[in-house]
Amino acid sequence: MSDVARLVVLISGSGSNLQAILDACQQGSLPAQVVAVISNKAEAYGLQRANNAAVPSVIFPVHKNQTRAEYDRQLARIVSAFKPDWVILAGWMRLLTNTFLSRFPNHVINLHPALPGAFPGTHSIERAYKAWQSEKIPHTGVMVHLVPDEGVDNGPLLNMRIVHMRDEDTLDTFEERMHEAEHELLVETINSLIVHGLERTMHNAKSNSFRS
Ligand code: GAR
Repeated sequence: MSDVARLVVLISGSGSNLQAILDACQQGSLPAQVVAVISNKAEAYGLQRANNAAVPSVIFPVHKNQTRAEYDRQLARIVSAFKPDWVILAGWMRLLTNTFLSRFPNHVINLHPALPGAFPGTHSIERAYKAWQSEKIPHTGVMVHLVPDEGVDNGPLLNMRIVHMRDEDTLDTFEERMHEAEHELLVETINSLIVHGLERTMHNAKSNSFRS
């Protein structure tokens, strides 16, 4: 088990991407082990998924009057106790400051349901769908990027995939396809980081950035 990468996955909600990682680890298609799941929300369904997979989880909500720096310092302490090779933000809906990020340089990655530079923040799928309806964009996509600093859903690209809207799409059907693309992309990217390393994954991202 020594060459199996240790993943700490941070979530805030449903955790369907966490599930994709857990399934890939279990099926042996990802040489990794989720060693902990951390949620800032007690009600996140992803905690149940962690429990079902017998993965330790920590609920770490923001306390009243706690500064961002205090929260991030304690969060870093919790995460580092699990000795992660990679910290995966899979639907983690809270900005991380350099207090946290500086503890894991080049080892924090974020999944975002949009293409680089487009629709950062929340409700990105819905915003892209509306933009397509009003003919402002021809397509959207999903991406995984490194998190070097406090930029929102922004950082060196590790992988992306274009997702096309279809005339018959409702927001629901479109959202479902976006999530399917995310599940595949996230597992594929983590696998590349583990097998090929960061440099090559970034290099491949540049040359493959228009695969749909
Ligand atoms: C995913 O669509 C992920 O890309 C998004 O939250 C969702 C989490 O779904 N993240 C962001 O928007 C980050 N800005 P999940 O909890 O089912 O994995």
